[in-house]
This record gives sequence, structure tokens and C-alpha cells, in this order.
Amino acid sequence: MKKILVIGSLNMDMVIEMKRMPIVGETVLGTKMTYVPGGKGANQAYAAAKLGGDVKMLGCIGDDDFGRVQKSNLTKSGVDTDDLKRTETKGTGMASIYVDECGDNTVVVVPGANMECDVGYLKKNDAAFRECDYVILQMEICCDAIYYAIGRARELGKTIILNPAPVPDSLPDEIFAMLDYITPNESELMKLCGKEGDSLEDYAKGARLLLRKGVKNVLVTLGKKGALFVSKETEELFPARKVSAVDTTAAGDCFNGAFAVALAEGRRLDEAVAFANAASSIAVTRCGAQTSIPAREETDKVLAELPGLSRGI
Ligand code: RIB
Repeated sequence: MKKILVIGSLNMDMVIEMKRMPIVGETVLGTKMTYVPGGKGANQAYAAAKLGGDVKMLGCIGDDDFGRVQKSNLTKSGVDTDDLKRTETKGTGMASIYVDECGDNTVVVVPGANMECDVGYLKKNDAAFRECDYVILQMEICCDAIYYAIGRARELGKTIILNPAPVPDSLPDEIFAMLDYITPNESELMKLCGKEGDSLEDYAKGARLLLRKGVKNVLVTLGKKGALFVSKETEELFPARKVSAVDTTAAGDCFNGAFAVALAEGRRLDEAVAFANAASSIAVTRCGAQTSIPAREETDKVLAELPGLSRGI
């Protein structure tokens, strides 16, 4: 089993469930409020470890109860949290998440301590880069740290997966050129390539644009439609399993964590995408971020029942 290093955010999610989202200026009554460990980085690390990966995480929490809950939840799932940074100057990152009765969500993140996951801290933890095989990043920590991590991982010949969420207005071309995999959802993809459109062909065109910038593989998560994989050699759609979604929070994180685990186990790319689709199809049937991540056995069971891996687009 190869080693996975996740570098990214840790948040405490305040999840408020409601019949429908308020519009600007409106007050609505919610039905439930819960605190759930989240943050894209922590969710991906948690998912990868729970699904059987050998995972280490670098990131920063505050010296507070939310930070302690995060660290202990990750440690229990098997993530190596020994080198997480703890800062006294900022509180653990927070996210306010609204979930409506269709399972759709809106998220506002206040990064707090996540912005102290900086270049100096990553340099101090160079051993983590040297000892891993895969580096997974998202975009909830400071950009300098993300770009540094990508450059260092490339120098060391590691496989790099960037989940560009939340999506920036643009990424430098030299960053694209260092990525082995980029895993945007459909809106993140279109923003990154500066195009509009909502058909599979539009997404495939967008993905080809990123290939021209030097990314080796583009894997677009499309919610109920599944996942679209585009490389120089192939363009394939991996349909999603049909389920009734109750909360899509962290479905993309679960997908990324599962995908990395399958690659780290040496599975073929089509098998890795199918495994990630299976895991995230379970995650959307449950509430919350880390609370929705499935175990390995149930994911394998769902995968075994899926009819086929992919079809051409
Ligand atoms: O991707 C879901 C995550 O986004 C939530 O857990 C929230 O913390 C935000 O980071």
C-alpha cells in the first residue's frame, strides 16, 4: 500500500437543516442544527483512511475544543495526525452549512487557523513529502502553501491530485503543468477554463483545455450524472449509482479520498473511478461531512453490485 499525504483544511461544520434555503433578506425556520467535523482536507484524509488508505495529514487547527475534536476524529479513523499544527493565534476553521430538504447545500467557510498552514510549516514537515507517494490538495489553505506543496511534490516525483475547491478565478499555468490529476466538479471546471455550458460535450471540451495547459488527467465529478474522465488517450463517463440524496456535503471529498486509496492500492484507473463513485453514492445518503463517509466493506459491497464501469461519452 502506497502512502497518501493530504494537505489542507480542517473545519468544524455547523450544519443547519431546513425545508428550503432563505433568499437574501429573508428569515426561515430551521429543523435541526448539529456540529460535525469537516473541512475539505480533513474530509478527504478521513475518507481515505476509513476506506483503507495509509494516510498522513498536514494542516492547522486552533487551540480549542473544535480543533481537539477534529484531531481525535481523524486519529480514530487511522489518519496520522502527529504533525498537525496547533496555533494559539486563530480559532479552528468553521463552516456554516445550510442543507435543504432536497439535500442541496450552501457553504460559507471562515478559514481561521487554516491560513496558518503556510510555507514555513510545510518546509518544516518536508519528511512527510519525502515519505509519501501521493499528495492530495484542495484550496481552503493559503495559495502560497498550495503552490509550494505542488512544486515540492513534483521535485520529489510524487503523484499529485488537486481538488480545486473552492475554485479560484484562475491558476498559474505552471501549476496546471505539474498536476497528475485535477478533480473539479462541473462548475469548478467551467470557471477554471473560463467557458460556459452545461452539456457533457461542454465539460469534455473544458477538460481538454486543461489538458492543453499540461494537466495529465482531468476527472470531473458530475453529481447524479457520475464522473467524466478525460486524458490524452481517452474520454469516458462513469455513471453514478442511482440513490436518493439527503445531503451532498463532502460527497466530492469522499470521492477524492476513495479515488486516491484505489490508486494507492495499484488499481486500474477505471476501477479507481468506479470505487470513488461507489463511495460517494453512499455518502450522499447520509447527513454531514465526516459522518457520511462509508466504511470499506460497505463500499466494496456496493461496487460489486454496480453493473459496469464506464461508457464512452
Ligand atoms: O466539502 C465539504 C466541506 O466544505 C465541509 O465539510 C466544509 O467544512 C467545507 O470545507
